[in-house]
Amino acid sequence: MYKLFFQLVFRRMDPERAHHLAFRWIRLAVRVPGLRTFVAALLAPRYEELRTEAFGLRMHGPFGLAAGFDKNATAVDGMSMLGFDHIEIGTVTGEAQPGNPRKRLFRLVPDRALINRMGFNNEGSAAVAERLASRTPVFRTVVGVNIGKTKVVPEAEAAADYVKSTERLAEHADYLVVNVSSPNTPGLRNLQATESLRPLLTAVREAADRAVTSRRVPLLVKIAPDLADEDVDAVADLAVELGLDGIIATNTTIAREGLGLKSEPSVVKETGGLSGAPLKARSLEVLRRLYARVGDDITLVGVGGIESAEDAWQRILAGATLVQGYSAFVYQGPFWGRAIHKGLAARLRTSPYATLADAVGADVRKAA
Ligand SMILES: Cc1cc2nc3c(=O)[nH]c(=O)nc-3n(C[C@H](O)[C@H](O)[C@H](O)COP(=O)(O)O)c2cc1C
Repeated sequence: MYKLFFQLVFRRMDPERAHHLAFRWIRLAVRVPGLRTFVAALLAPRYEELRTEAFGLRMHGPFGLAAGFDKNATAVDGMSMLGFDHIEIGTVTGEAQPGNPRKRLFRLVPDRALINRMGFNNEGSAAVAERLASRTPVFRTVVGVNIGKTKVVPEAEAAADYVKSTERLAEHADYLVVNVSSPNTPGLRNLQATESLRPLLTAVREAADRAVTSRRVPLLVKIAPDLADEDVDAVADLAVELGLDGIIATNTTIAREGLGLKSEPSVVKETGGLSGAPLKARSLEVLRRLYARVGDDITLVGVGGIESAEDAWQRILAGATLVQGYSAFVYQGPFWGRAIHKGLAARLRTSPYATLADAVGADVRKAA
């Protein structure tokens, strides 16, 4: 049904316009009490066995919305209604910024993929903090806040910009993510080098502790799939050294070669980060590598090319406590969450594992 709608309506529209339209419908639906209860019961079924705990936070399940979909925290309840068990808002930058000029989002339909060069379009840390502060939640959900660097801030002053966002947003965040892996802010990914990442993460940790004294806000870092394997290991070691709570693997890729892309070469050539199905193999590989390195010391979040319950299950077996998605939602629509929950619960029931937590990393442990 959604696939037909996608072919007839969304596919003919500019992808960013389609996003805004879908977003508006979701936000409208969640305002109508009877409707939102009905939709949530239909699309966000709860399974006792999928209950998850990650970095001290309890969730209905392991499946969440990846950053970039709800950049300004305007649809937290709406996305929760659609079955996402945690919502990662952002990327939010220190200051508001418009992002790159349009057109900046492209569909690669034959590849079930997207290319985006949005460039962190967002309302900035002050406005988003205010919105989160005044929010009256309809559905109880975990809200992660993903922060990044304001484009005009020089790389050398990046830490101060992240600290500004942290000071404003930490108290409203169930967890915080330092995003150093988007390909669309010049120089951002250089911050993944440990000599830059160490002071940055230390500064954000200290700022979060200063800003919130009543609890310890979990801090995660989100990395790119394009890191060399040794750099993945270096980030993993640094995360352990600094006592980070989690690593999110992965962001979008700048790679195009060797992915067997079938879409129009003119679209494939667009600058930006590629997400969706072609990212699946590398994101899984990075996750496995991280789990082999950090084991259960640090919580891992698997994202990149997850389309089905089987994909989500594979990430859990590879070491992910939480899984996230974005691109497949565009192609599969509002029943996607339901399918993931149902399939995960079925897999767990027929697996040798008593709980979801027992399944985390089982494949990697077996191979060791
Ligand atoms: C249009 C678009 C915008 C995105 N914006 C952000 C962002 O602001 N911050 C971020 O950390 N990741 C962002 N991402 C990356 C996603 O969070 C995710 O890591 C990536 O798309 C891989 O997951 P997927 O294959 O399920 O889409 C964006 C992705 C897309 C498609």
